[in-house]
Amino acid sequence: MEVNDEIRRILPEIDWIEDTSLRNKVIATWADGLRRGEWTPDDITRMPFTLAKVVDISFAQHVRSVTRICLAAAETFAEIYQGKLSLDRDVLLAGALLHDVGKLLEMEEVDGTFRKSAAGKLVRHPFSGVALADEHGIPPAVQHIIGTHSKEGDPYPRTPEAVVVHLADFMNFDTIAG
Ligand SMILES: [Fe+2]
Repeated sequence: MEVNDEIRRILPEIDWIEDTSLRNKVIATWADGLRRGEWTPDDITRMPFTLAKVVDISFAQHVRSVTRICLAAAETFAEIYQGKLSLDRDVLLAGALLHDVGKLLEMEEVDGTFRKSAAGKLVRHPFSGVALADEHGIPPAVQHIIGTHSKEGDPYPRTPEAVVVHLADFMNFDTIAG
């Protein structure tokens, strides 16, 4: 199976992005991150989503859960608020799917142990994620989500889509014991 098809199998929510061009850019960004970090697609089902605590949740599970929670929020807003608060669905999905893509460069596996890479100690994943995304033509609204999803984004105003990804990400971190 080709790398792009493997990525879509492991992160099936990618196919929820309606804009074909944006969807392909998201896949290309993941593929490039895997190549540069010297990972296989299956590695994202093995690697932990964080090194900040010991967790039994994979990178792929984390990304999928964050993405689904974001979409559920967007659908709830649309249904309840009747257009008074609407999120850009594709921007939200792309941002959720890519928010942590920089972790492919932030982490490395040595003798079966996952740890921070030398580059990762200097350039945290929001920064490397934006760099990767920009390389593949990911639009600024999505780059904004990647760059502000973490504490680095706290001093700046986030777009509504970035607020949702930021909070969904922390929901999937603070609730998990480790
Ligand atoms: Fe995350």
